[in-house]
Amino acid sequence: MKKILNNLSKVISTKTLSEIAKKRLKRDLETIRERIQKNEYESSGIVFNTFDVPDKTQQFLSHLKTYSEIGNTWALILNSLPVHEYKNVLDLCPGFTPKIELALFYIKFKGEVTILDNEQESINRVTDFSKLIRPEFKITSYRHNLFTTSKKKFPFIIGNHIIDDLILFYFMGKNHLRLKDLYEKEHILIKTWERIYKNKKQNLQEISDKLTQIFINLVSNDGYLCLSQYRSYLEKMLNLDQAFLFTKKVCSKIENNLLKNGFTKIPINDMGHNCYFNSTDVIVLKK
Ligand SMILES: C[S@@+](CC[C@H](N)C(=O)[O-])C[C@H]1O[C@@H](n2cnc3c(N)ncnc32)[C@H](O)[C@@H]1O
Repeated sequence: MKKILNNLSKVISTKTLSEIAKKRLKRDLETIRERIQKNEYESSGIVFNTFDVPDKTQQFLSHLKTYSEIGNTWALILNSLPVHEYKNVLDLCPGFTPKIELALFYIKFKGEVTILDNEQESINRVTDFSKLIRPEFKITSYRHNLFTTSKKKFPFIIGNHIIDDLILFYFMGKNHLRLKDLYEKEHILIKTWERIYKNKKQNLQEISDKLTQIFINLVSNDGYLCLSQYRSYLEKMLNLDQAFLFTKKVCSKIENNLLKNGFTKIPINDMGHNCYFNSTDVIVLKK
């Protein structure tokens, strides 16, 4: 074992690795460390074959199917709203996946779709993917941190499952932690949520007020704000029930605050069983 570790250390120190190769290697080594600590080698080793095409295709298709299901659910919601009367739709914080763009593709939206995210990498991924489906809409981007003042306003804003990420971004910033670490290391995600619940009442008030102000500033007059917040795969896998409940409370508080600030609620009809999330997971407000 010692010899293997020495050899490994030698190879790593002599080889020039690209940034992405370094990142993958670090993640693999970290996985091995965690597996040893949790005694997972007692039951099995890591089995992963890069050339297992059927397995890779199955994984890829399963992700694509989920994006498409979410896109179809949004398409159903958007079909009940006058989205075609608006020239611009803003996709708020899409992460890496073009769910809103798929929805707008399904409903044949012909205006401009702006992708707003703090990370250029997210904007690039969503733009690249969207181009593959050759949509009728034009794609533009706005790299912006929502917790700073935006000079731009938007007439039709959609945010799919973003409130939890904005809560984390805000409280990580307050604690001088990096958001990147959060998505790569699950224990940091769990720890951050635990920190947030410790001062639940005050944090709920603080973040709800911040986000309310952000939405008031970002939505133009007569504009729409559509937000969804459902129990995600990650929340189910990591048993983040408290995080989900806290996020839902923040959503309700934002909704109430906005209703007190001149927004009106647009009811969404029950969408049936074939949808990825249902009407109780969506807030649609008009300014
Ligand atoms: C995990 S994604 C959100 C989920 C995504 N909408 C979906 O449907 O899968 C989180 C995204 O929000 C972005 N983000 C987080 N905080 C932000 C902020 N303060 N301003 C702008 N973008 C932010 C991140 O860069 C990331 O791309």
